[in-house]
Amino acid sequence: MKVLQPKTTSHQLENYEATKENFDWNQVKEAFSWHKTGQVNLAYEAIDRHVNEGLGNKPALLYSDAERDETYTFRQLKDLSNQAGNMLKDLGVEKGDRVFIFMPRSPELYVSLLGTIKIGAVVGPLFEAFMKDAVKARLEDSESKVLVTTPDLLPRVPLDELPHLEKVVVVGNELPDGEKFVSYFDKMKAASKESAVEWVDLEDGLILHYTSGSTGKPKGVYHVHNSMLQHYQTAKWVLDLKEDDTYWCTADPGWVTGTSYGIFGPWLNGVTNVVRGGRFSPQDWYETLEKYKVTVWYSAPTAFRMLMAADPNIKEMYDLSSVRHILSVGEPLNPEVVRWGVEAFDRRIHDTWWMTETGAMLICNYPGEPIKPGSMGKPFPGVEAAIINDHGEELPPNEMGNLAVKAGWPSMMRKVWKNEEKFNEYFAIDGWYVSGDTAYRDEEGYFWFQGRNDDVINTAGERVGPFEIESKLVEHRAVAEAGVIGKPDPVRGHIIKAFISLRDGYTQDDELIDEIKQFIKKELSAHAMPREIEFKEKLPKTRSGKIMRRVLKAWELGEPVGDLSTMDD
Ligand code: WT7
Repeated sequence: MKVLQPKTTSHQLENYEATKENFDWNQVKEAFSWHKTGQVNLAYEAIDRHVNEGLGNKPALLYSDAERDETYTFRQLKDLSNQAGNMLKDLGVEKGDRVFIFMPRSPELYVSLLGTIKIGAVVGPLFEAFMKDAVKARLEDSESKVLVTTPDLLPRVPLDELPHLEKVVVVGNELPDGEKFVSYFDKMKAASKESAVEWVDLEDGLILHYTSGSTGKPKGVYHVHNSMLQHYQTAKWVLDLKEDDTYWCTADPGWVTGTSYGIFGPWLNGVTNVVRGGRFSPQDWYETLEKYKVTVWYSAPTAFRMLMAADPNIKEMYDLSSVRHILSVGEPLNPEVVRWGVEAFDRRIHDTWWMTETGAMLICNYPGEPIKPGSMGKPFPGVEAAIINDHGEELPPNEMGNLAVKAGWPSMMRKVWKNEEKFNEYFAIDGWYVSGDTAYRDEEGYFWFQGRNDDVINTAGERVGPFEIESKLVEHRAVAEAGVIGKPDPVRGHIIKAFISLRDGYTQDDELIDEIKQFIKKELSAHAMPREIEFKEKLPKTRSGKIMRRVLKAWELGEPVGDLSTMDD
């Protein structure tokens, strides 16, 4: 096993070992002003507190897209979020009501989201690419009272079919006719900057993130203000955020990474946060790193792989030396990508594992600890993770099983909106939250992801995780991305089938197929060799970058593909 030794940086965690040993979530409470005042609100802790503590003029948000380039200080965000909160109150929003935000990344999105939380309402961010049915399903299920959106997206909001939706705040210069519409800019101008903070309880609602299951309708994962304990502490220790960092999380707030670590984690730590609007392009991303001298960068394997596949000369055009810490989440981080990180940035990419339901990181690679490429790392202090069988018994090292976590970490979801049965399914094994991921733990306590439970392939009596094969496939010079599934086979139970998209400059032919098969056979094992390979221009992926194996499977079997609302175009 190749282990990458830590690279010492000036920002090495101080006394981390000592702190980790006797860590207890109660210690984190002292980081917040509510510890002293007894008054709780995450938005207050993330923004207003820093102004009160003398950081008012510090840049909080560095926003840019193709047209805009703006800086907002903590004081400006405090004022703007008060205005947004007062505007929403004026529209009749009360504590506990749901306010949804359906728009592309922009300062107005961040301001509206903070304003909603400030007044104790529950915010529901929706990714801009959702189409009408997906928007409707989420607004309907949550019974959202107010929606903040842009004129471009309005055609995808079926107002007549949403009886609970009372007002639509339109972020744009023109206001459509209709009683429900109000202008964001007019209302904001008229709104007071007086504090809009509504004090809540730690267990009061914060955010509703919809995540799609493999079948059925999307689930509203409900989180509460108490999550801030974990947002704060994981951002401090795992993102390793320090006062003078410039941090960039590339995720959209429509996904949990884009809120927990694109908003809450960095701002609870008082750190300058970069938001780049618009779509991915290698030039754009490298330019963003250079322009803002980003020091800490949190992204996803799919983005790293796209950067890897891009012309290497592009990277050479930028000075990326400011980057001191890189992290990844969302899907397995291929060892090949970790090696690329070392080559391209002289930095090891740190993997982190968590889910929409968990609200914050649970398993991760700490700065300063050795990294085993391909492993997700170890549980965060105060988190007890294990590999268990279906009866809740812990399995010995190196045995594959259910990745489970002892229930009760601070940012755990508190319910699935209006669906108690779904919620209870996660906790069917006594005392455990069962993730639905298959993994194993090695002798040293490192966790190794193998696939979603449904993805694990049983071939000729062997259980094979698709991720390992996919990772090996992308090491082949011709392969850009790979998705592996089990295809039913009368003899072997299942055979391994790989869907592959090729890198620029390669064309598909039998010779290449054979070469790739032999490569896996030689590098991995004979039983891991895909017996079938099919080339695709693009693989089906969620907008958050996950390869959708269930879609590949449905294609293969000619079955219905199920809910596609989260699939990228
Ligand atoms: C699922 C959760 C939490 C942020 C984004 C995803 C997969 C997540 C890793 C990782 C391998 C990972 C799991 C998990 N996943 N992180 N480091 N290595 N797989 O949130 O959309 O709720 O998806 O993403 O399968 O269960 P999500």
